[in-house]
Amino acid sequence: MGRSISCSLSSSLIFLLPYIFLFSVNLFGTNLRANHDTNELIQKVCDFSNVQEFCYKIFENDPRTQWATTKFNLEDITIQLVYSNYTKIARKVLTITSYETNSEFRRIYRSCLHHYILLRSDLENLVHALRFQGDLDQAAQNASSHILACMNYFTQYSNIPNPFAHDNTNLVYFFELIRNIYLTPLQS
Ligand SMILES: *[C@@H]1O[C@H](CO)[C@@H](O)[C@H](O)[C@H]1NC(C)=O
Ligand SMILES: *[C@@H]1O[C@H](CO)[C@@H](O)[C@H](O)[C@H]1NC(C)=O
Repeated sequence: MGRSISCSLSSSLIFLLPYIFLFSVNLFGTNLRANHDTNELIQKVCDFSNVQEFCYKIFENDPRTQWATTKFNLEDITIQLVYSNYTKIARKVLTITSYETNSEFRRIYRSCLHHYILLRSDLENLVHALRFQGDLDQAAQNASSHILACMNYFTQYSNIPNPFAHDNTNLVYFFELIRNIYLTPLQS
């Protein structure tokens, strides 16, 4: 008796589950919209940005943004993301360069690797500029210049396969986003 009651209870719960789920998603959406501090900030920053889609993608996928209330918070999150991306990519560039057997390809990859190694101190400068209210615009442009130098080799030598194309674009977008956040006019 008791078993059949709990049995039918659980089967109706299973039946209701998609509705409960939909309902809570809807509630969550309403809550998110009601929390206008964060949302307005991200919207202002992303709408101002010239890498708008990238901006929304980054911030909507990062749970830390729900506590972001200032430009500093978003700059901090973005710099942490670009730093961990850089570490991963630099290791990949090193690996690909050292395993490349074609000497012409390896020469270009090594030139990129050189810029990736120089990029590390620009990332340190970015972190420093964030902490001490330095010029994030200039620091991000400095960082970007190394990626652009690497990209430039592949424009010059278009016969050489570019295993870093996607990573380079991603990093340039990150640096652009950092500049854009920094330069977003906010009155509050
Ligand atoms: C690299 O950046 C992407 C966004 O383009 C992000 O989703 C990913 O988590 C980052 N990877 C690391 C290792 O930080
Ligand atoms: C950017 O690079 C220039 C030239 O290398 C350097 O003088 C300047 O201090 C750098 N700026 C920042 C904010 O890192």
